[in-house]
Amino acid sequence: MRTASLHPSFGVEVHDVDLTTLTPDYLYPEVRAAFESHSLLLFRRQRLDDDGHLAFGALFGPIEDRSMGARGPQPRMDNVSNRISADAISAPDDFHTLNLIGNQLWHTDSTFLPVPALANILAARVLSSSGGETEFVSTRAAFASLPPPMQANLRQAKFRHRASHSRSKISAELAKLEKFTKWPDQVWNAVWRNPITGEEALYIASHVCAVEGMPPEAGLALVDELVAHCTRPEMIYTHVWQPGDVLIWDERATLHRGRPWPYNEERTLASICVSVRDVDGLGDVRGVGSTEPRQD
Ligand code: OGA
Ligand code: MN
Repeated sequence: MRTASLHPSFGVEVHDVDLTTLTPDYLYPEVRAAFESHSLLLFRRQRLDDDGHLAFGALFGPIEDRSMGARGPQPRMDNVSNRISADAISAPDDFHTLNLIGNQLWHTDSTFLPVPALANILAARVLSSSGGETEFVSTRAAFASLPPPMQANLRQAKFRHRASHSRSKISAELAKLEKFTKWPDQVWNAVWRNPITGEEALYIASHVCAVEGMPPEAGLALVDELVAHCTRPEMIYTHVWQPGDVLIWDERATLHRGRPWPYNEERTLASICVSVRDVDGLGDVRGVGSTEPRQD
Protein backbone atom coordinates (compact mmCIF):
# COMPACT_ATOMS: atom_id res chain seq x y z
CA MET A 1 0.00 0.00 0.00
CA ARG A 2 1.60 3.25 -1.13
CA THR A 3 0.46 6.63 0.17
CA ALA A 4 1.01 10.18 -1.04
CA SER A 5 0.35 13.27 1.04
CA LEU A 6 -2.73 15.41 0.27
CA HIS A 7 -1.87 18.30 2.60
CA PRO A 8 1.20 19.01 4.76
CA SER A 9 -0.75 18.54 8.00
CA PHE A 10 -3.07 15.60 7.21
CA GLY A 11 -4.62 13.40 4.54
CA VAL A 12 -3.16 10.85 2.14
CA GLU A 13 -4.08 9.33 -1.17
CA VAL A 14 -3.85 5.55 -0.89
CA HIS A 15 -2.64 3.74 -4.00
CA ASP A 16 -2.80 0.08 -4.99
CA VAL A 17 -5.94 -0.76 -3.00
CA ASP A 18 -9.18 -2.08 -4.48
CA LEU A 19 -11.69 -1.40 -1.71
CA THR A 20 -13.85 -4.36 -2.74
CA THR A 21 -11.06 -6.78 -1.68
CA LEU A 22 -10.63 -5.68 1.94
CA THR A 23 -11.39 -8.09 4.78
CA PRO A 24 -10.78 -7.70 8.52
CA ASP A 25 -7.41 -9.42 8.03
CA TYR A 26 -6.48 -8.37 4.51
CA LEU A 27 -5.47 -4.70 4.05
CA TYR A 28 -8.09 -3.38 6.50
CA PRO A 29 -5.52 -3.22 9.35
CA GLU A 30 -3.21 -1.09 7.18
CA VAL A 31 -6.07 1.12 5.96
CA ARG A 32 -7.32 1.53 9.53
CA ALA A 33 -3.84 2.48 10.76
CA ALA A 34 -3.60 5.09 7.97
CA PHE A 35 -7.04 6.42 8.98
CA GLU A 36 -5.92 6.80 12.61
CA SER A 37 -2.71 8.59 11.59
CA HIS A 38 -3.78 10.74 8.65
CA SER A 39 -7.50 11.45 9.36
CA LEU A 40 -8.46 11.60 5.65
CA LEU A 41 -7.91 8.91 3.03
CA LEU A 42 -8.53 9.20 -0.72
CA PHE A 43 -8.92 6.16 -2.95
CA ARG A 44 -9.24 6.84 -6.68
CA ARG A 45 -10.60 4.72 -9.55
CA GLN A 46 -12.76 2.56 -7.27
CA ARG A 47 -15.80 0.54 -8.31
CA LEU A 48 -17.75 0.60 -5.08
CA ASP A 49 -21.45 -0.17 -5.43
CA ASP A 50 -23.80 0.22 -2.45
CA ASP A 51 -23.10 -3.26 -1.12
CA GLY A 52 -19.34 -2.81 -1.40
CA HIS A 53 -19.63 0.61 0.23
CA LEU A 54 -21.58 -0.83 3.18
CA ALA A 55 -19.12 -3.72 3.52
CA PHE A 56 -16.16 -1.30 3.57
CA GLY A 57 -17.91 0.86 6.19
CA ALA A 58 -18.82 -2.12 8.36
CA LEU A 59 -15.12 -2.90 8.78
CA PHE A 60 -14.82 0.37 10.74
CA GLY A 61 -17.88 -0.09 12.97
CA PRO A 62 -21.69 0.01 13.08
CA ILE A 63 -23.32 1.76 10.12
CA GLU A 64 -25.31 4.86 11.12
CA ASP A 65 -28.74 5.58 9.70
CA ARG A 66 -27.95 8.86 7.90
CA SER A 67 -31.61 9.38 7.07
CA MET A 68 -32.04 9.78 10.84
CA GLY A 69 -34.87 7.30 11.01
CA ALA A 70 -36.73 8.71 8.00
CA ARG A 71 -36.46 5.45 6.08
CA GLY A 72 -36.69 2.96 8.87
CA PRO A 73 -33.76 0.82 9.86
CA GLN A 74 -33.07 -0.42 6.28
CA PRO A 75 -31.55 0.46 3.90
CA ARG A 76 -28.94 2.49 5.69
CA MET A 77 -27.14 3.49 2.54
CA ASP A 78 -27.69 7.16 1.83
CA ASN A 79 -26.96 9.68 -0.89
CA VAL A 80 -25.88 13.26 -0.41
CA SER A 81 -27.78 14.43 -3.45
CA ASN A 82 -30.14 17.01 -4.86
CA ARG A 83 -31.92 14.26 -6.81
CA ILE A 84 -35.25 13.77 -5.08
CA SER A 85 -36.89 11.38 -7.57
CA ALA A 86 -36.15 9.66 -10.87
CA ASP A 87 -37.17 12.76 -12.81
CA ALA A 88 -36.57 15.66 -10.43
CA ILE A 89 -33.81 17.48 -8.62
CA SER A 90 -34.66 19.78 -5.73
CA ALA A 91 -35.28 23.48 -6.39
CA PRO A 92 -32.66 25.91 -5.04
CA ASP A 93 -34.98 27.26 -2.31
CA ASP A 94 -36.43 23.88 -1.35
CA PHE A 95 -35.78 22.55 2.20
CA HIS A 96 -33.91 19.63 0.66
CA THR A 97 -31.45 21.97 -1.10
CA LEU A 98 -31.23 24.24 1.96
CA ASN A 99 -30.22 21.25 4.06
CA LEU A 100 -27.45 20.45 1.55
CA ILE A 101 -26.41 24.10 1.77
CA GLY A 102 -26.18 23.53 5.54
CA ASN A 103 -23.30 21.17 4.70
CA GLN A 104 -21.44 24.23 3.41
CA LEU A 105 -20.87 25.37 7.01
CA TRP A 106 -17.69 23.92 8.51
CA HIS A 107 -18.89 20.92 10.47
CA THR A 108 -18.41 17.45 11.82
CA ASP A 109 -21.13 14.90 11.08
CA SER A 110 -23.63 13.66 13.64
CA THR A 111 -22.20 15.40 16.72
CA PHE A 112 -25.85 16.05 17.67
CA LEU A 113 -26.69 12.33 17.80
CA PRO A 114 -26.59 10.34 21.05
CA VAL A 115 -23.88 8.24 19.37
CA PRO A 116 -21.87 10.43 17.00
CA ALA A 117 -19.98 9.39 13.89
CA LEU A 118 -16.47 7.99 13.71
CA ALA A 119 -16.21 8.30 9.95
CA ASN A 120 -18.01 9.32 6.81
CA ILE A 121 -17.33 7.50 3.54
CA LEU A 122 -18.31 9.37 0.37
CA ALA A 123 -18.17 7.92 -3.13
CA ALA A 124 -18.61 9.99 -6.29
CA ARG A 125 -21.74 9.08 -8.28
CA VAL A 126 -22.91 12.07 -10.36
CA LEU A 127 -20.72 15.18 -10.46
CA SER A 128 -21.71 18.70 -11.45
CA SER A 129 -19.98 20.48 -14.33
CA SER A 130 -18.34 22.89 -11.86
CA GLY A 131 -18.10 23.51 -8.11
CA GLY A 132 -19.21 20.87 -5.62
CA GLU A 133 -15.78 20.40 -4.08
CA THR A 134 -15.51 19.09 -0.51
CA GLU A 135 -13.05 20.84 1.81
CA PHE A 136 -11.31 19.52 4.92
CA VAL A 137 -9.08 20.74 7.73
CA SER A 138 -7.32 18.89 10.52
CA THR A 139 -8.56 19.89 13.97
CA ARG A 140 -5.61 17.92 15.32
CA ALA A 141 -3.15 20.24 13.57
CA ALA A 142 -5.28 23.19 14.68
CA PHE A 143 -5.23 22.09 18.33
CA ALA A 144 -1.48 21.48 18.24
CA SER A 145 -0.93 25.03 16.98
CA LEU A 146 -2.86 26.70 19.83
CA PRO A 147 -0.97 28.35 22.73
CA PRO A 148 -0.51 25.87 25.62
CA PRO A 149 -2.69 27.84 28.11
CA MET A 150 -5.55 27.78 25.58
CA GLN A 151 -5.02 24.04 25.07
CA ALA A 152 -5.19 23.53 28.84
CA ASN A 153 -8.49 25.46 29.05
CA LEU A 154 -9.97 23.53 26.14
CA ARG A 155 -9.09 20.19 27.76
CA GLN A 156 -11.52 21.17 30.53
CA ALA A 157 -14.20 22.62 28.19
CA LYS A 158 -17.43 21.02 26.97
CA PHE A 159 -19.42 21.98 23.89
CA ARG A 160 -23.18 21.63 23.54
CA HIS A 161 -24.29 20.32 20.11
CA ARG A 162 -27.73 20.81 18.55
CA ALA A 163 -28.74 19.98 14.95
CA SER A 164 -31.27 22.79 14.70
CA HIS A 165 -28.56 25.31 15.63
CA SER A 166 -26.59 24.80 12.41
CA ARG A 167 -29.77 24.69 10.33
CA SER A 168 -30.95 27.99 11.89
CA LYS A 169 -27.90 29.66 10.33
CA ILE A 170 -29.34 28.75 6.90
CA SER A 171 -33.09 29.20 7.46
CA ALA A 172 -35.25 29.63 10.56
CA GLU A 173 -37.96 27.54 8.89
CA LEU A 174 -35.53 24.71 8.02
CA ALA A 175 -34.38 24.58 11.65
CA LYS A 176 -37.94 23.91 12.80
CA LEU A 177 -38.21 20.61 10.91
CA GLU A 178 -38.79 17.72 13.28
CA LYS A 179 -35.75 15.83 12.01
CA PHE A 180 -33.54 18.62 13.39
CA THR A 181 -35.43 19.29 16.63
CA LYS A 182 -36.07 15.72 17.76
CA TRP A 183 -32.66 15.08 19.33
CA PRO A 184 -31.87 16.21 22.85
CA ASP A 185 -28.72 18.35 23.06
CA GLN A 186 -25.48 16.40 23.28
CA VAL A 187 -22.59 17.65 25.39
CA TRP A 188 -19.11 16.46 24.44
CA ASN A 189 -15.64 17.32 25.61
CA ALA A 190 -14.08 19.97 23.37
CA VAL A 191 -10.99 17.83 22.85
CA TRP A 192 -10.97 14.27 21.53
CA ARG A 193 -7.85 12.29 22.32
CA ASN A 194 -7.28 9.51 19.82
CA PRO A 195 -6.99 6.32 21.89
CA ILE A 196 -4.57 4.74 19.38
CA THR A 197 -2.17 7.58 18.61
CA GLY A 198 -2.70 9.68 21.75
CA GLU A 199 -3.07 12.80 19.62
CA GLU A 200 -5.63 15.41 20.65
CA ALA A 201 -8.03 17.19 18.30
CA LEU A 202 -10.65 19.86 18.73
CA TYR A 203 -14.10 18.31 18.52
CA ILE A 204 -16.14 21.16 17.13
CA ALA A 205 -18.89 21.68 14.56
CA SER A 206 -21.44 24.10 13.12
CA HIS A 207 -23.82 22.32 15.52
CA VAL A 208 -22.13 23.75 18.66
CA CYS A 209 -24.75 26.03 20.21
CA ALA A 210 -23.04 26.77 23.55
CA VAL A 211 -19.91 26.32 25.62
CA GLU A 212 -20.93 24.85 28.96
CA GLY A 213 -20.49 27.33 31.79
CA MET A 214 -19.92 30.36 29.54
CA PRO A 215 -22.39 33.18 28.84
CA PRO A 216 -24.11 32.42 25.49
CA GLU A 217 -22.52 35.21 23.46
CA ALA A 218 -19.01 34.68 24.80
CA GLY A 219 -19.34 30.93 24.18
CA LEU A 220 -20.42 31.37 20.57
CA ALA A 221 -17.66 33.95 20.02
CA LEU A 222 -15.11 31.42 21.29
CA VAL A 223 -16.51 28.74 18.95
CA ASP A 224 -16.32 31.13 15.99
CA GLU A 225 -12.75 32.05 16.88
CA LEU A 226 -11.73 28.39 17.13
CA VAL A 227 -13.39 27.44 13.83
CA ALA A 228 -11.65 30.41 12.17
CA HIS A 229 -8.34 29.20 13.60
CA CYS A 230 -8.95 25.66 12.30
CA THR A 231 -9.97 26.82 8.83
CA ARG A 232 -7.26 29.32 7.93
CA PRO A 233 -6.83 29.10 4.14
CA GLU A 234 -3.44 27.38 4.30
CA MET A 235 -4.92 24.61 6.48
CA ILE A 236 -7.55 23.59 3.91
CA TYR A 237 -7.41 20.57 1.61
CA THR A 238 -9.89 21.05 -1.25
CA HIS A 239 -11.07 17.85 -2.85
CA VAL A 240 -12.04 18.20 -6.51
CA TRP A 241 -14.16 15.13 -7.20
CA GLN A 242 -13.46 12.73 -10.05
CA PRO A 243 -15.55 9.70 -11.02
CA GLY A 244 -14.41 6.68 -9.01
CA ASP A 245 -13.23 8.72 -5.99
CA VAL A 246 -13.87 7.43 -2.49
CA LEU A 247 -13.04 9.53 0.57
CA ILE A 248 -13.14 8.46 4.20
CA TRP A 249 -12.46 10.87 7.03
CA ASP A 250 -12.08 10.76 10.78
CA GLU A 251 -14.88 12.81 12.33
CA ARG A 252 -12.90 13.01 15.59
CA ALA A 253 -10.08 14.99 14.03
CA THR A 254 -11.36 17.01 11.07
CA LEU A 255 -13.88 19.62 9.99
CA HIS A 256 -15.36 19.55 6.49
CA ARG A 257 -17.72 21.50 4.28
CA GLY A 258 -19.26 21.17 0.83
CA ARG A 259 -18.90 23.94 -1.76
CA PRO A 260 -21.68 25.37 -3.94
CA TRP A 261 -22.43 24.02 -7.40
CA PRO A 262 -25.01 24.99 -10.07
CA TYR A 263 -28.15 23.80 -8.26
CA ASN A 264 -29.96 23.07 -11.51
CA GLU A 265 -27.46 20.22 -12.08
CA GLU A 266 -27.46 16.91 -10.28
CA ARG A 267 -24.72 16.27 -7.74
CA THR A 268 -24.82 12.88 -6.02
CA LEU A 269 -22.33 11.36 -3.62
CA ALA A 270 -23.10 8.02 -2.02
CA SER A 271 -22.51 8.28 1.72
CA ILE A 272 -22.47 6.25 4.86
CA CYS A 273 -21.42 7.22 8.34
CA VAL A 274 -20.00 4.75 10.82
CA SER A 275 -20.87 5.25 14.48
CA VAL A 276 -18.19 5.68 17.08
CA ARG A 277 -17.58 3.03 19.74
CA ASP A 278 -15.88 2.98 23.11
CA VAL A 279 -12.65 1.73 21.53
CA ASP A 280 -12.64 4.93 19.44
CA GLY A 281 -12.81 7.10 22.57
CA LEU A 282 -16.57 7.56 22.98
CA GLY A 283 -16.58 7.21 26.77
CA ASP A 284 -13.69 9.67 27.10
CA VAL A 285 -15.30 12.37 24.99
CA ARG A 286 -18.47 12.06 27.07
CA GLY A 287 -16.31 12.64 30.08
CA VAL A 288 -17.94 9.77 31.96
CA GLY A 289 -15.73 6.77 31.18
CA SER A 290 -17.20 3.73 29.46
CA THR A 291 -20.71 4.12 28.07
CA GLU A 292 -21.28 0.73 26.51
CA PRO A 293 -22.76 -2.20 28.38
CA ARG A 294 -20.10 -4.64 29.48
CA GLN A 295 -19.89 -7.77 27.41
CA ASP A 296 -19.23 -10.11 30.35
C1 OGA B 1 -21.50 15.04 4.21
C2 OGA B 1 -21.09 16.37 3.72
C3 OGA B 1 -20.21 17.59 1.87
C4 OGA B 1 -20.34 17.56 0.40
O1 OGA B 1 -21.69 14.11 3.41
O2 OGA B 1 -21.62 14.90 5.44
O3 OGA B 1 -20.95 17.26 4.49
O4 OGA B 1 -19.43 18.06 -0.26
N1 OGA B 1 -20.82 16.45 2.42
O5 OGA B 1 -21.36 17.05 -0.08
MN1 MN C 1 -21.03 16.47 6.52
